[in-house]
Amino acid sequence: MLCLQQTLNLRLFAAIVNLWLCLSLLVESFSTTFSSRPTVATYFLVDKASKQLLGSCYQLEPLLLETAEDEVDEYYPTSRKAYVFDQPKPTTKNNASSNAANQTANNSSNKREISVRRTSFGCSKLGYTVWPASLVLSLDMVARTGDYEGKRILELGAGVGLPSVVAGKVVGASAILATDHWLNDDAEAFDDKRLIPTPYHEMNLRFNVQSENSSIRNVDWHDIESVRAACTDFSPDVVIGSDLIYYPSDLPFLCRTLEHFLLDPSSSCREILLVSPLPEPIREALPQFQEWLEQKALDKMFQLDTNTLVLHENKIEEAEGGEHFLKVTMKRQ
Ligand SMILES: C[S@@+](CC[C@H](N)C(=O)[O-])C[C@H]1O[C@@H](n2cnc3c(N)ncnc32)[C@H](O)[C@@H]1O
Repeated sequence: MLCLQQTLNLRLFAAIVNLWLCLSLLVESFSTTFSSRPTVATYFLVDKASKQLLGSCYQLEPLLLETAEDEVDEYYPTSRKAYVFDQPKPTTKNNASSNAANQTANNSSNKREISVRRTSFGCSKLGYTVWPASLVLSLDMVARTGDYEGKRILELGAGVGLPSVVAGKVVGASAILATDHWLNDDAEAFDDKRLIPTPYHEMNLRFNVQSENSSIRNVDWHDIESVRAACTDFSPDVVIGSDLIYYPSDLPFLCRTLEHFLLDPSSSCREILLVSPLPEPIREALPQFQEWLEQKALDKMFQLDTNTLVLHENKIEEAEGGEHFLKVTMKRQ
């Protein structure tokens, strides 16, 4: 009798152990499948002069996809980049100008995951990837959400369009137009002096940006009619752009485009916000662009603000670490 009792107790014990093992395996597989994916890097944006932390975001391991989503995936090497930004609380008129430090410290913000698809140089030329300046522009807009929330935002030279996506999904802009220049079809005349993306670049930008309040458009700074038409049809409040100051041969056309948005009486644009990397050696067209800016500001054509922002990866270094960027804000007088 005692022996039978011991056997039953042992069986019960074994069953409980088995159940516990199964449950813990289930919990483990559930958490690896559904919990947060590994973090690739965390980025911190700091104002160089004041040393104030303006904002941060982190990059996640992207979700793996097994099938091609369209022809861009079929014809070109592609990959996804996923970032998590804090979505600040909606602002009211009274706290719309609350500063970046307050936004960063705001505990009631929601995390928003943004994902964009990168292509290859063969598909999109220089607009094929997320350049660090576009992350800086995105973080700067999020830090000053109050200034951009509810605004109509037009992005120039959008590439894969990260700032446009962030403007729509994190900052709460009311309408977004992401512009870039691409060939309309493969047969279009090929200019071997310019790096112009293929027609599939349009498909990629649309894939990343298009939503209820966001669209895309082919705008070539060399073609002032395309600039005028986008300005008239979309009526932007703010124009943004990252890493646009590249080749001296494009600069006069880019400056003419900026002048149209900010100075033409028919334009509704009140502000242009640009972010440019300050690498060593410096971008070839940047000194000439800075001269143009200073002259226009001297002539009181617009109000000019410039400052240096620093992007740190994973840790904020005390001294000279991090990548440096020039932020330019031009406001209508
Ligand atoms: C270095 S990429 C920067 C892309 C994106 N803004 C970023 O920071 O990730 C320069 C972008 O400017 C665009 N671009 C160059 N010349 C242009 C032109 N004449 N008209 C319109 N876009 C142009 C390119 O197609 C490319 O997308």
